[in-house]
Amino acid sequence: MVTEKPSGLAARAAALELLTAALSGRNGLESALARPANTVLEPRDRGFARALALATLRRLGQIDRTLDARLSRPPPDAVRNILRLGAVQALVLQTAPHAAVAASVDLAASRGDTRAFKGLVNAVLRTLLREPPDLSDPEALAPPWLFARWRAAYGEAEARAIAAVIADEPAADLNLRDSAETAELGEALEAEILPGGGLRTRRRGDIATWPAFETGRWWVQDAAAAIPARLLATQPGETVLDLCAAPGGKTMQLAATGATVTALDRSAGRLKRVIENLARTGLSAEIITADAAAWGDPRTFDAVLLDAPCSATGTFRRHPDVLWAAKPGDIASLAAVQTRLLDAAATRTRPGGRLVYCVCSLEPEEGEAQVAAFLARRPAFAISPITAGEGGAPVPSLRPDGSLRILPHHMTGGLDGFFVARFRRVD
Ligand SMILES: C[S@@+](CC[C@H](N)C(=O)[O-])C[C@H]1O[C@@H](n2cnc3c(N)ncnc32)[C@H](O)[C@@H]1O
Repeated sequence: MVTEKPSGLAARAAALELLTAALSGRNGLESALARPANTVLEPRDRGFARALALATLRRLGQIDRTLDARLSRPPPDAVRNILRLGAVQALVLQTAPHAAVAASVDLAASRGDTRAFKGLVNAVLRTLLREPPDLSDPEALAPPWLFARWRAAYGEAEARAIAAVIADEPAADLNLRDSAETAELGEALEAEILPGGGLRTRRRGDIATWPAFETGRWWVQDAAAAIPARLLATQPGETVLDLCAAPGGKTMQLAATGATVTALDRSAGRLKRVIENLARTGLSAEIITADAAAWGDPRTFDAVLLDAPCSATGTFRRHPDVLWAAKPGDIASLAAVQTRLLDAAATRTRPGGRLVYCVCSLEPEEGEAQVAAFLARRPAFAISPITAGEGGAPVPSLRPDGSLRILPHHMTGGLDGFFVARFRRVD
């Protein structure tokens, strides 16, 4: 829910910029949030603009169906985006209907490319309010091609349950440097304790001002994202390689176990975030900038974690833009990258060592199919079955072969969709 009260046009204009950027391609929203035009806004307007853009992205599928039914021909993109924002304010958020319409008409009037359409904006939004659409169908929340994939992979009921989570605004999940502090920090942060030991809080606002952030006793990490590193159960004195490490959530988990961690990523820019995160939490790791598949170092490790680049369709709760940025062709090209990186991870695992592979994707080509192909081409590796509830994994996510297919509705309040498999090198 949008709780910040906007000061008016500036906040809505900023929401329009964010929505436009989010729909322009992968990482569009993230880049737009970091642009000076956004960061110079009053914190209240910035918060409102972000929350409105995210709420619109969460409801985009339903809102577009509703608008399409009321538009005789497609309007220019900027006009459609103003209509989307107005419809979400009026139908989903608690904005008074007349205020949502008036604000949308003002926004259209404020721009040269939309001014001529302010009458259309007014008429369409008023019709919507007179005959409010039914926004209860979860299938309409997802892009049709993705919903069809989920139905094919998991069946109708599961696909609908996955899609229903798209509309929900997620809580903040935190992971702790020291599990002995769970009760104390849980109370300070007004959080519930999650299976596996993380915290979940409905607090809002700038996390840097929350208790114990500055002293680095926790970091933000989704409940599902925290599971893979726990499954390596690394011990002090062991060596562990985190192969796609940035921004470092899993690196911090591994370092907090006392293991000797090497954190590798090909992006120097993203590795800066790992360095900052380690500095804030007082943890340490060796940092390597390299392509995992071309890294010339001859070392092998007791444990290897591969959190591979993927379509990220499982992260739609915090990043609803991924649903609209993802394209069908991405999945096959990312699967080819994952195959290459899994082979690199295998080469780095010492005989007798363990390897965890994970992706924050709901697509079987990036999960189950990768594991089947890996086992077929690498007889030196066997699945090391994960046990029910291990690492805080929701029990329904455990597959018969001992890997995890975590779906977003597997935990009350939701969690990211993930696939996780653990292997042991047996030769
Ligand atoms: C899913 S993110 C990793 C998230 C991270 N493990 C965490 O928990 O914070 C994937 C990362 O893989 C990195 N990456 C992509 N291709 C790579 C490659 N060939 N070699 C090394 N890193 C790569 C990206 O830069 C990105 O930071």
